[in-house]
Amino acid sequence: MASPDTDVSDLVDSLSLDEKCSLVRGAADPEGTATGYVPGVPRLDIPEFRLADGPLGIRIPGRSSTAFPASIAVASTFDPELARRQGVAMAREAKASGQHAVLGPGLNLIRVPNCGRNFEYYAEDPVVTADFAAAVVEGIQSEDVLATPKHYVANNQETKRLVVSAEVGERALRELYLPGFEAAVEAGAGSVMTAYNRVNGTHMSDHRRLVTEVLKDEWGFDGYVVSDWFGTESAVGAATAGLDLEMPGISLEALHEAFGLDPDAEMLEEGDDESIPAGETTTPRFATELKSAVESGAVPADRLDDMVARILGQMARIGLLDGDWGDGGALDTPDHRDLAETLAARGTVLLKNDDGSLPLSDDADVALVGPGVAEAMLGGGGSSEVTPAREVSALEGIRARTDGSVAFEPGVERVVTPSFFDDGPADGDDHADDFPGGKTPDIDAAADCAREADVAVVVVRDATTEGADRETLRLPGEQDELVAAVADAAARTVVVVQSGGPVELPWRDSVDAIVESWYPGQADGDALASVLYGDADPSGRLPVTFAPEDSYPTAAEERFPGVGEEAQYDEGVFVGYRHFDAADADDEPTYPFGHGLSYATFEYGDAEVRGDDAVAVEVTNASDRDGREVVQAYVRPPAVAGVERPMRELAGYAAVEVAAGETETVELSLSEHAFRRYDDSEGWTVDAGEYVVEVGRSSRDVRAETTVSR
Ligand code: NOJ
Repeated sequence: MASPDTDVSDLVDSLSLDEKCSLVRGAADPEGTATGYVPGVPRLDIPEFRLADGPLGIRIPGRSSTAFPASIAVASTFDPELARRQGVAMAREAKASGQHAVLGPGLNLIRVPNCGRNFEYYAEDPVVTADFAAAVVEGIQSEDVLATPKHYVANNQETKRLVVSAEVGERALRELYLPGFEAAVEAGAGSVMTAYNRVNGTHMSDHRRLVTEVLKDEWGFDGYVVSDWFGTESAVGAATAGLDLEMPGISLEALHEAFGLDPDAEMLEEGDDESIPAGETTTPRFATELKSAVESGAVPADRLDDMVARILGQMARIGLLDGDWGDGGALDTPDHRDLAETLAARGTVLLKNDDGSLPLSDDADVALVGPGVAEAMLGGGGSSEVTPAREVSALEGIRARTDGSVAFEPGVERVVTPSFFDDGPADGDDHADDFPGGKTPDIDAAADCAREADVAVVVVRDATTEGADRETLRLPGEQDELVAAVADAAARTVVVVQSGGPVELPWRDSVDAIVESWYPGQADGDALASVLYGDADPSGRLPVTFAPEDSYPTAAEERFPGVGEEAQYDEGVFVGYRHFDAADADDEPTYPFGHGLSYATFEYGDAEVRGDDAVAVEVTNASDRDGREVVQAYVRPPAVAGVERPMRELAGYAAVEVAAGETETVELSLSEHAFRRYDDSEGWTVDAGEYVVEVGRSSRDVRAETTVSR
């Protein structure tokens, strides 16, 4: 890591007011590569500064880069080291395109299963979110590229995202929504992006308490805070609240032109919503109002100096002010391709596998059914869209792997992910409307095809996007009918679900195996084939609970999408498995948090406490194939009168390779986060007493128990 050896305070002193103002707001990138661009000050050798979108890869208009799996798939690996490597790879790709900052990771907690951007986030659990966010940040920053964890904070839905106020209590903020950001800051993030929404009535770009008092003062964040694009509500409010850089700093029309944005994309709901007067949300504020606000004293001059110093400080930190930046960039390398495939395979979750239906035998004759099997599932729509140089569809991946025959039927109409971009990878225009072999969608033909094969593999998918939430957790179109028809006809049916978050699986009892592969990115078909044929032991685990839509705590309208402009977070800390585990929850999860099967069989020994904050357990692979197990530890707190706590909270986990017949001792460190609770008057509190530590395969599959005291 480069040290900030250039004295930025001298530089700040040498800048005129106009120059300072030009450094804290975006402008149009003359090169057209950056999502956000700051022109620099040539007079003082301050170079241009470029920010590129993530978090699933680097998005550069007109160029290709590695399309990694969705972040929810990355979290499903339960292996933060892989996320760190992804951060390194993304940073190298950013460098190769002259981009100094990556606009990622996205790390909002998955509160609402319908959220259109869940694929860009990690988990419904704060420990998993914090671990993965920190790992990606560490990877990005280790290459002298700035990470930008986003969207700070409580940006948990897309509906009315520009105006909705998350009405959230301090305890839930502290226990669930803030820890990921704090971990990202601790891991060295150079910048943080504010969210579009309000929190308890105050727009996040104007939120002095959360931006200045919590992020900067309490956590010691010394980087810069950047707005989301057009997310600045007022110049004075934002600058005095602690915002340091406004993006994009240009008009919506200029942005559309610069990026080939599809004018119909539901990016900003401009004009659609009576509460947002046309033009109101997309006026660059710093560009038009900051200078006069500093001149009038409404924004103190030393606040502007601090804004500039924070930006220049991060430019110095990565070596940009010394002309010492840019080595080590590389796009689409074999390493990056391999990593994209490893992440996609390890992030694939085997939800169900009756009678050893999987892995497939090498010579099985396969009926490959589904409208998307000839197109890799790259991601969702929106600012995270990446165009890869190569992509492998399920059809290509399975054809390359099998010794048997592969017959194909689409079954139903294509499911098209909306794109933000005219030439967007996700908009389907890249792919001919025709299915391979001139096939047409026909459920009966798909059932006939399935009947003749040894096994039917049905690939179904949803289509989610930034800017809109899912109206239902059902799969789009007639895909449920397709699965049911194939399951009826086939000797064996394996369903592969490619979704951005939890979906309902109404046919699950009539199929033999279900695989959740999220949005696997460019390596889709190769990763899928390696899991289906058992080249990789499926070791993905669910970072979100799968349950019927109406059983999530956010099923109530006042909680999601909210009434008027308020979403009530009055479920408090009872989000995800914390809700389903509560005694008064009516419904059982379909598949619980942490769930995921293996091809190997694991047996657990007794759990043993190690020191104050670790447990160890012996895990034996009792099968004749090598496996990869994700050992999880949950903490159950002692009862305290008058205090409602989740029944269990994830405290630690480890992904471990165990060879056939072998035993490994796995040590898990227990995060203090699982022991403490946030008390509105006392702050962080650890109740004295005995805590049960449950060690097992998921939040509902406990294999060993022990206790620790606090
Ligand atoms: C809006 C999105 O919310 C954010 O994630 C993205 O980085 C910016 N647009 C820039 O594209």
